[in-house]
Amino acid sequence: MKEATDVFSDWAEQGKDLGMERGHATAVSEMLKAAIENLPQPFSAIDIGCGNGWVVRKLTTLGAIRAEGVDGAKQMILKAREIDPQGTYHEAQLPEWTPDNPFDFVHTMEFLYYLKNPEEMLSKIHDEWLNPGGWLVAGVDHYSEHEASLKWPEQLNVHMTTMSIQDWEKAMQNAGFQNLKIWQTASSENFPGTLAMLGQRAADS
Ligand SMILES: C[S@@+](CC[C@H](N)C(=O)[O-])C[C@H]1O[C@@H](n2cnc3c(N)ncnc32)[C@H](O)[C@@H]1O
Repeated sequence: MKEATDVFSDWAEQGKDLGMERGHATAVSEMLKAAIENLPQPFSAIDIGCGNGWVVRKLTTLGAIRAEGVDGAKQMILKAREIDPQGTYHEAQLPEWTPDNPFDFVHTMEFLYYLKNPEEMLSKIHDEWLNPGGWLVAGVDHYSEHEASLKWPEQLNVHMTTMSIQDWEKAMQNAGFQNLKIWQTASSENFPGTLAMLGQRAADS
């Protein structure tokens, strides 16, 4: 099997990052809308698995005073820095890398299931990436109830951890998130929607 970061580095070279940006835009808008009404203004934020950095740049228009992105695909990060030379984009493998300072808000779209242990990453986000009282919003399109997505690991020759909606909800709870909202968004005739997950690290934790 190939490393996801190698596959997506090739995708960036082929310009396929723009297709992902278009494909994910509706779900990401809904996820950001649900999260941002809970955040202080201004807020600090990071996008995990940021690709070409399009959500990082969106976050600065939504009130982020410090917005950063991290991705393990070299060409994605090169592209992000080319588009936005003033921006902060980290090229790093996850879950090993952790930020120097925590954030008020963590966003991640279509990244978590590439990991062998998404629940471990959720715990790290909760304990190490977020300030007390901070919020996570995460979206995944590969999950058990989205039958067509079950073929993706074989089609892409990349590891994906397949979890049901209930598994994701439990993983968010086990990681310590509170005030959970789990919903499917941006569905269409052949797509049950992005599974979106919103949760908060307790203010006194
Ligand atoms: C499906 S793309 C989504 C990109 C972006 N979030 C978007 O919506 O356009 C998944 C991204 O996660 C990154 N990624 C996957 N596994 C990773 C890992 N272990 N460490 C760092 N980045 C990873 C890939 O390089 C890729 O850019």
